[in-house]
Amino acid sequence: MKIGIDKIGFYAPHLFVDMNELAVARNIEPEKFTIGIGQEKMAIAPITQDPVTLAANAALEILDEQDKEKIDFVIFGTESGIDNSKSAAVYVHRLLGINPHARSIELKQACYGATAAIQMAKGHIALNPDSKVLVLASDIARYGLNTSGESTQGAGAVALLISAEPKILALEEKSAYLTDDIMDFWRPIYSDRAFVDGKFSNEQYILFFQKVWEQYKEKSGFGITDFEAICYDLPYTKMGLKALRTILDQGTEEEQQRLLENYKVSTKYNRMVGNIYTGSLYLSLLSLLEQKEDLADGSRIGLFSYGSGAVGEFFTGILQSNYREHLQIQHHRELFEARKKVTVPEYERIFDNTLPIDGSSIELDTDSDPAVICLSGMKDNMRLYINKLNQ
Ligand code: HMG
Repeated sequence: MKIGIDKIGFYAPHLFVDMNELAVARNIEPEKFTIGIGQEKMAIAPITQDPVTLAANAALEILDEQDKEKIDFVIFGTESGIDNSKSAAVYVHRLLGINPHARSIELKQACYGATAAIQMAKGHIALNPDSKVLVLASDIARYGLNTSGESTQGAGAVALLISAEPKILALEEKSAYLTDDIMDFWRPIYSDRAFVDGKFSNEQYILFFQKVWEQYKEKSGFGITDFEAICYDLPYTKMGLKALRTILDQGTEEEQQRLLENYKVSTKYNRMVGNIYTGSLYLSLLSLLEQKEDLADGSRIGLFSYGSGAVGEFFTGILQSNYREHLQIQHHRELFEARKKVTVPEYERIFDNTLPIDGSSIELDTDSDPAVICLSGMKDNMRLYINKLNQ
């Protein structure tokens, strides 16, 4: 039985800041951000969007009534969760009206969370072939204004429907993974901003990639020749390229060319959104599938997942017949076109405009947010959400 990705949804908030303008405001040469880091636009979450609403909006575009009946497991991968007890999955489960006889949980291991969720979903479907699992990957990346990580922030979510006989990508069995307890990036429970050892994190990302790639080759007998493309976890779009370059000499010139060209396509959406942490690998996959028009059915795609702290995994999938017919290409084009640029001072105001943490109530203006699902306020230490379709 094939198991894999049946549908892919995506959502990014409607606001962004231009990286050239951010560079000028920070007295940095714009090329450092646009070429050295490889980012053009950074998605900004207004106060009415949090990881729950981003995920719910991403899932909204792909689920039909039959999916909602069949889903019996909702797994929410995030590292910017909103509650230390209740899972973000439970909120999304209600906001989308999913069958009540479902498990709903949250998983955390930095950017690796959604990959763990997919592997868990795969095992669940193997035991329950009729069911479907909704995997949500949603985050808001915050390092702080004027920090070295600022240019690698972002916000957004990817929703993946995992099922038997998937229409888009069938996951293969062999995969290679690795854990090592390191402090390259972390966020203590009392902080809404991440701490990072930037250079060390870059080195570890590459090292993890090399180790799982070698382990994968040993386990599978495959090598560069067998891959049409490799997608990477993309904290910023230059990062995956640095890792890819370290293995390119294992292929012919033609293979190197193919992987480099496809890598570029796989970074298009990420360049316009920024780091969405655990969803970033899947945003890169989506970019490749939607932006590369002639990627043949049956192609093998490699996926490298890296979650600081750290866990890495290399796994693979095969594109299914007519997979392109099951993508939301037009919808995503419209989503990008409808976004609104904010100035750097506006971005700074939005960044500093956070929810109360002293138990006081707040009512938020959801009319200024075009998203269907929004955070409408806080009362008695509880977040309040609305689905505008149900009003
Ligand atoms: P930095 O010190 O701002 O930048 O840190 P830099 O001095 O290293 O320069 C960056 C690149 O720009 C360099 O290229 C420069 O040469 C180039 P490289 O040598 O790396 O190829 N550059 C220019 N290029 C063209 N024109 C110019 C110019 N000037 C310089 N004029 C850093 C950058 C990414 C470290 C920082 O932004 C940071 O700490 N970001 C957050 C951490 C991060 O993203 N780490 C990535 C690996 S860890 C990971 O992926 C996991 C993560 O997502 C968390 C999770 O798992 O949840 C972060």
